[in-house]
Amino acid sequence: MKQQLENILAEALLEISRALNKEDVEKLKVKYCGKKGKVTAILKQMGKLSAEERPVMGQLANEVRSKIDNEITEKIKKVKEEELKLRLKNEKIDVTMPGKRNNLGHKHPLSIVLSEIEHIFLSMGFDIVEGPEVEYDYYNFEALNIPKDHPARDTQDTFYINDNILLRTQTSPMQIRTMEKRKPPIRIISPGRVYRCDEVDATHSPVFTQIEGLVVDKGITFADLKGTLEVFVKKLYGEDSVIRFRPHHFPFTEPSAEVDVQCFNCQGKGCRICKGEGWMEILGCGMVHPKVLKNCGIDPEVYSGFALGMGLERVVMRRYNIDDLRLFYENDYRFLEQF
Ligand code: DAH
Repeated sequence: MKQQLENILAEALLEISRALNKEDVEKLKVKYCGKKGKVTAILKQMGKLSAEERPVMGQLANEVRSKIDNEITEKIKKVKEEELKLRLKNEKIDVTMPGKRNNLGHKHPLSIVLSEIEHIFLSMGFDIVEGPEVEYDYYNFEALNIPKDHPARDTQDTFYINDNILLRTQTSPMQIRTMEKRKPPIRIISPGRVYRCDEVDATHSPVFTQIEGLVVDKGITFADLKGTLEVFVKKLYGEDSVIRFRPHHFPFTEPSAEVDVQCFNCQGKGCRICKGEGWMEILGCGMVHPKVLKNCGIDPEVYSGFALGMGLERVVMRRYNIDDLRLFYENDYRFLEQF
């Protein structure tokens, strides 16, 4: 029995020394000292021994068990330490390594100028409203005094979805939608995408952006329109910019005008940028037609208003001297990164 115990001890110590991880060591604990373990099995045989042998063997067996136990506890400690060391080594952060670069996005030139324009109008007490790009014929044309057979429909090649529904060709329907919802005083601008069945070239795109403006109140006159535009243009293009009004026609305004800004490159002399004109058209405007007010349930005898509409792409092209509108939509980094 003594020999057996010594063999068990030697075998156990060898196995413990070879164990690589905590799980292995714990298995050995069961193998030797568990209820069905090897040392326990020996202890169970004590009954067969003589009265003199029993305490001697008992003591030896207990010694063997506590040696194995201690060895296992030690080993577990060692294994844990090693596992920790390994983890620390693997998870070490080298704080001197260069960080990962976060590429910051930035605004598109159209968004930059749009938010500038919005701020100018907000500072004059305007609200910003937005509306649907898929629009009823009624809002896009009919209510704006453009009936079905009106020649103005030809100039706005329309994407129809059916007889009554279309992709809006202008932001002017937002005049109607606003006047239906709000009562005067009204002061809004409404930026958004509009669609026309145009071929793509340097100055045309089937999708572009307009900004509509509308003011309705008692006693609004053409002088208010001129004053507002004067302030707007000076804030957008600089204090020394000069504008002029040219008579024009729009079905939803009367009288109507187009507004030109004097070319800031040549001060009206004529150059490449203004194509020799000296002036550049920037928007259409006029006094809201009494019929349009009536269509929205606003009494033209009591109220009057002005409206304006401008193409954002043109304004931005002028601002940054960009000569091809396609650059806005092609998402070429070499272009976009310049803003
Ligand atoms: N909707 C017109 C267009 O797309 C632009 C316009 C002109 C808007 C005069 C207006 C306006 O509100 O008063 O050509």
